[in-house]
Amino acid sequence: MSDEIEEIKRKIDIVDFISSYLTLKKAGTSYKALCPFHQEKEPSFYVSPEKQIFKCFGCGKSGSIFDFLMEMEGLEFPEALKILAERAGVQLRQFKSKEYQETKDQKIKLYEINQLAARFFHAILVGKPKAQFVRDYLNKRKISQESIKKFMLGYAPDSYNLLSNFLKTKGYSMLDIYQAGLVVASEKNPGEYYDRFRNRLMFPICDNLGNVVGFSGRALQETETGKYINSPDSPIYSKSKILYGLDKAKQAIKEKKQVIIVEGQMDVISAHQNGYQNVVASSGTSLTTLHLEILGRFTKNIAFAFDQDRAGEAATKRAIDLANQLGFNTNIILIPAGKDPDECLRENLALWEKAIKEQKGAVDYYFEVAFSKKPKELAASEKREIAKELLPIIKNLSDTIVQAHYIQKLAGLLNIPEKILYEALEKIKDKRISKSPEIIAKKPTESIEERLLGLILARSEFQNDFLKKINPEDFADPKLQEIVKELKKYYNQKALFNLQSFKKKLPQHSTTIDILVLPFENIADSELLQKEYNEYTNRLLANKTELIKKSYEERIKEAERAKDKEKVKALIKEFQRKIIGK
Ligand code: CTP
Ligand code: MN
Repeated sequence: MSDEIEEIKRKIDIVDFISSYLTLKKAGTSYKALCPFHQEKEPSFYVSPEKQIFKCFGCGKSGSIFDFLMEMEGLEFPEALKILAERAGVQLRQFKSKEYQETKDQKIKLYEINQLAARFFHAILVGKPKAQFVRDYLNKRKISQESIKKFMLGYAPDSYNLLSNFLKTKGYSMLDIYQAGLVVASEKNPGEYYDRFRNRLMFPICDNLGNVVGFSGRALQETETGKYINSPDSPIYSKSKILYGLDKAKQAIKEKKQVIIVEGQMDVISAHQNGYQNVVASSGTSLTTLHLEILGRFTKNIAFAFDQDRAGEAATKRAIDLANQLGFNTNIILIPAGKDPDECLRENLALWEKAIKEQKGAVDYYFEVAFSKKPKELAASEKREIAKELLPIIKNLSDTIVQAHYIQKLAGLLNIPEKILYEALEKIKDKRISKSPEIIAKKPTESIEERLLGLILARSEFQNDFLKKINPEDFADPKLQEIVKELKKYYNQKALFNLQSFKKKLPQHSTTIDILVLPFENIADSELLQKEYNEYTNRLLANKTELIKKSYEERIKEAERAKDKEKVKALIKEFQRKIIGK
């Protein structure tokens, strides 16, 4: 396997590869571009043809062509491997041995199980007499044969074990099937499981590449247990990342330079069937920054298609706010009240087409709403109310030019100087992004750990001191731990450190090592390096103390809850010894 990976890396030049996504500019021996993984105005994304790696000094993302493709397309390693092998013309050996079956990546198993389940449900829907009523139902809803195939719709039979028995005959364990979210653990009989989806119309949910990662099942009769049941999140399915239909909409989104977001699966299918292939659904969950980040790879233009009653709803407004913050151009497509896109498309295609044509900027729409509630001649207090409603929306826009446009518009409509509105704008609290935990968590990925290790690998003069002070376990990242362990071993055996021969000891981490040392290669100022080195070691050790503190805090709390006084005392003692003894 690692031979094949190396061969692929040799055959695909990273500069060529990344050029198909970004415009690279030559900068010394490497290339520069605006980072596709975070928002920036000045390029801090580097590609090194010599080392065949990329690195963004802004957000910290780095790696080989594999890492780039995975990040860019939201892929898992096996999928990236498949794509790059094909592109490089490298044949991947098939691993069919028993051990491989047992040890192979759990995620691959989950993909297989979901794929098999989708085929199972689909075969029943299209082929079995007992699914006739489901075919009738789809027919009544004007879902074509083509759509049934394209979206691989299915029918989950009214049984507690047909699917799981089928999957077991294919060699999967109940635990695997459970992990894939297709069975539920029985509360009455512990250790027993039953099929989650029963007597439901099944919509397979796919990731960007069309791999089935979960399901949404629609009730076919009125039930008390929910119109839709969905797969739980799993190692391959995360609701905050997946948009229904995106795998089938990607191309059209790029071509039409816009994505249309609807609420439900039925809306997506109807739209695609009627020639609107740039439509995806958030499937009832609220849109997250992760959804938007993924969409942002395809387009910066989003139109939300909602029925007219819904456009004012808080959830919709939040989605639009979020998209505005992230610099998307947001439009609203107003579907006549009471209808969802599916109904509108089905009953009156012309009406849908009109709604698409007449879509308007979300901010303009909010202007209309704000003014429509007020009389033509505005009193002072009414002007204040309108400004109060609209200024936060304007504040939220990421682009100052767009902001200026709307301030000008508002000033005109209210007949108030722009300057006053700008002053009011200043006073509004900036709620942008800072509130979104997902983005915060993703920001500086280049940790102290990485900086420190890069520094001591690039500059062997620090290694002696480093190895005296710091243990492999002081690193949280297991990959870095392994590198430190190897360094320790290396140091005990040889007198002179040589990066190239060190890398040979850790072929699986050689790219990581290249990336780690990259920032330190051209720094000649040894005083500066000494300062950095001191700071990183101190911070790493401080972090370690912090971690110890946290773990003891938790254990002490737990003992307190259990009213185990002896244990509390012992833990406090142990904690003091650890911290002070340091
Ligand atoms: N949804 C869900 N759980 C529910 C209800 C809805 O997950 N209990 C999600 C589904 O993804 C659904 C979307 O929210 O597609 C929109 O819900 P709704 O408008 O109720 O359903 P429709 O898509 O209109 O389905 P249908 O046309 O079949 O009634
Ligand atoms: Mn509907």
